[in-house]
Amino acid sequence: MNPINNPYAPGAGTRPPELAGRDELRETIRIALERVRAGRPTKSILMVGLRGAGKTVLLGRMRDDAETTAIHTMQVEAPENRSLPSILAPEFRQALLRLSRNARAVELATRALRGLAGFAKALKVRYQDIEVGFDFDPEPGLADNGDLEHDLQALLEVAGAAAKSAGTALAIFVDELQYVQEDELAALITALHRTGQRNLPVVLVGAGLPQLPGRMGRAKSYAERLFDFPIVGALSAEAAAIAIVKPANDQNVHVNSDALERIIWETHRYPYFLQEWGKHAWDAADASPITLRDVEVASRTAIAALDESFFRVRFDRLTPLEKKYLRAMSELGPGPHRSGDISDQLDREVTSLGPTRGQLIAKGMIWSPSHGDTAFTVPLFDEFMKRIMPGNDWKQ
Ligand SMILES: Nc1ncnc2c1ncn2[C@@H]1O[C@H](COP(=O)(O)OP(=O)(O)OP(=O)(O)O)[C@@H](O)[C@H]1O
Ligand SMILES: [Mg+2]
Repeated sequence: MNPINNPYAPGAGTRPPELAGRDELRETIRIALERVRAGRPTKSILMVGLRGAGKTVLLGRMRDDAETTAIHTMQVEAPENRSLPSILAPEFRQALLRLSRNARAVELATRALRGLAGFAKALKVRYQDIEVGFDFDPEPGLADNGDLEHDLQALLEVAGAAAKSAGTALAIFVDELQYVQEDELAALITALHRTGQRNLPVVLVGAGLPQLPGRMGRAKSYAERLFDFPIVGALSAEAAAIAIVKPANDQNVHVNSDALERIIWETHRYPYFLQEWGKHAWDAADASPITLRDVEVASRTAIAALDESFFRVRFDRLTPLEKKYLRAMSELGPGPHRSGDISDQLDREVTSLGPTRGQLIAKGMIWSPSHGDTAFTVPLFDEFMKRIMPGNDWKQ
């Protein structure tokens, strides 16, 4: 069918035509934000899920939801190689400038902007990547110690006080939170703990890979009590069906039930794969309805497309030894696997592979569901590894 009308949207953070199966989580966040605004004790929420599960688009939608109810939001993505203060500072500035336009908040928001100026100046020595415009001079003694834990706490407190005076809340959305350094996570946790104790309306809505709860716990042992960690996983069969059928039906295209079943089976109900299969099935079909035969064609082209993009970009960032490690894992199946079983595949000692495993965790390729276990963070990566490194040559 005409590719111009193809509704499906595979891509990183690309909004799907139908955000299926996430109403419950959106409602959870809505309630949390309203509780924060009302000054009631509320846990911050960190959503965890595998690659392509739909965390980024969900965060984006939640932010839109919040904005429509006049909650003040900030949104950042933690990249692998930048400091948390450097990514937060410019967003803080925008949020505080917006707050300062509210007559009730102008005084406290201005004070918070002074705090931000002190924060950025004092921390620039340690975090040279901080770049933020100054609207006011710093207030001596306010968030300007040069110590992240202390200064972030002070900054969140004045910002929270400003939001409170405007009758709103400040919701900080952070994606890819697992990339934030542990000491910076610790500072963030402490600061949120503090605003919580003082009933200030500040809340974190984060997203990250499954290693995130463990990282938070290591950063501050009490983190587990401060946060909820809902899982953003594969969709239910019902939601997966909606994700495929609704966008087609909206254009008067029917999807045969055996075709739909095949898509659900092939994709394991993972959002990214559903979009990819939907797109290719649409392109394969000549006209409505989309048939099983179309999906069979789509399976080949969809896998080829994933191999070229979704899987490939991750593979290309690996060293030869890291590739070997993941190939050995895939030999054992989808996982999780015991570290000993993986090293046996490679005829190596577990300890000698420790650094490789550590690098793969840092790159967000694998995680450890429990001590000594290792699992992929990318769904179906085991099958990809076998396609890209076929045969037994990798064992040498
Ligand atoms: N609930 C959903 N229903 C249908 N499609 C979805 C849904 N959520 C996400 N998608 C689609 O899945 C793909 C991946 O979404 P997204 O980039 O948000 O995942 P992610 O979890 O952030 O992945 P990564 O860990 O790689 O950043 C996108 O193409 C998006 O349109
Ligand atoms: Mg994402």
